[in-house]
Amino acid sequence: MLISDIVCDLQPTPEVNSKIDELLESIKEQGLFHPITVHELNTSPITFEVIAGKKRFLAIQKLGVHIIPCEVKKGLDGYQKEEISLHENLKRGQLPWHEEVELVQKLHDLRQRQHGLGIANRPVNSDKKGWGMRDTANELGKALGSVSMDIQLARMVRQNPALKNIRDKATAMKVIKQTTKRLFAEEEATVSGMQDCADEVFFGEAASILNQLPETIFDFCITDPPWLKFAKADDPTLTRDAFTLPVFKALYRTMKYESMMYMFVGAEDFEFYKHELPKIGWKVQSHPCVWAKEGSLSRTGVRSWEHGRDLELILVAAKGSPVIASSTQVSSLFSHAVVPSKSLVHPNEKPTGLIESMLRLCSYVGSLGVDPFAGSGVMASACRKTKRHYVLIERENDRYKKILDRLGKKEKKEKT
Ligand SMILES: C[S@@+](CC[C@H](N)C(=O)[O-])C[C@H]1O[C@@H](n2cnc3c(N)ncnc32)[C@H](O)[C@@H]1O
Repeated sequence: MLISDIVCDLQPTPEVNSKIDELLESIKEQGLFHPITVHELNTSPITFEVIAGKKRFLAIQKLGVHIIPCEVKKGLDGYQKEEISLHENLKRGQLPWHEEVELVQKLHDLRQRQHGLGIANRPVNSDKKGWGMRDTANELGKALGSVSMDIQLARMVRQNPALKNIRDKATAMKVIKQTTKRLFAEEEATVSGMQDCADEVFFGEAASILNQLPETIFDFCITDPPWLKFAKADDPTLTRDAFTLPVFKALYRTMKYESMMYMFVGAEDFEFYKHELPKIGWKVQSHPCVWAKEGSLSRTGVRSWEHGRDLELILVAAKGSPVIASSTQVSSLFSHAVVPSKSLVHPNEKPTGLIESMLRLCSYVGSLGVDPFAGSGVMASACRKTKRHYVLIERENDRYKKILDRLGKKEKKEKT
């Protein structure tokens, strides 16, 4: 059929244009596999409209070809044209998953417009038989569960087009389930009543203070316990077990089910905690995350063949099975500059921006978190900036006072 006798109503959006360019390449290499389907519009002058194969038509037109193979239909109503278009496109196979689910949903919607809603959604008095998902599944020869999943996916893709970037349908479904769970957690963080201890700084031993707090109140923990080598230097008879594990045991009780913890650790400490924390109930990510300390490379303490130590390890642990606050896979690398030495309040002080990035992954606006080894109190600053709430605990009096200064607070609560 002559291209000049055919009209096509497809709008040339950037997405359509890029698809047409892809098709152009494959048509140049392999030709047009299937004829397009057209419907006769007028007999004089004779014109046709494309009802299936619109992008292929536009690609052929762009190639400058004058004739295109067509299957011709006549006398169809709007429903029939849409039905042919959907079935033709579904038959072609090798569609990206998001296009396939969109077609399934469109077919289901079309049938419901034709026949009325299925039993589950039909008004009680309706005499129409109605169209349900099972009918769409039968029409497509698919299982009911598969059609229901396609329709759910199509709705989510319409709300969030970025989902189209996910490589396959199974992964998309997994991401959507996680997002739904995350949205519930987000809602819970904003509606649940705030604890009395929110935005408090406590002076004293972390385990003892945590044991006085209610159960399951914290949505997240970001902390930085003393490292083994420093503990031993302070007091060689001290083992880490003597003071940090009881804190993580007490902490576990105060954490909500489905909550996360980020903990800065030395290399030996990572191995120790990875082994010990699960005995208390924590789940530990098998590999550590890494904080790449941008611009902090120096040769100090490094033998001529060694790499600079411009990194710190971060252990990731969970109570229950929380969902990280991101719809895409999150990298284990955090890249952030260190706090300049002249501005350090605490020798191990972490940059606020780094803690903010971590907060955004393990919590939501309104969430309540804890740092039982507060140091400079950086977590409170990060929480204030990102509208989270905090509880800090610090056992060194001068450090505790500096935290209060940092936050513009007066000394008022002491729990030991
Ligand atoms: C590594 S520093 C934390 C530094 C902090 N992340 C920052 O960025 O400023 C650990 C802090 O925990 C405190 N600490 C150690 N053991 C503690 C315990 N059992 N209870 C409360 N605080 C403790 C130490 O005094 C120290 O200030």
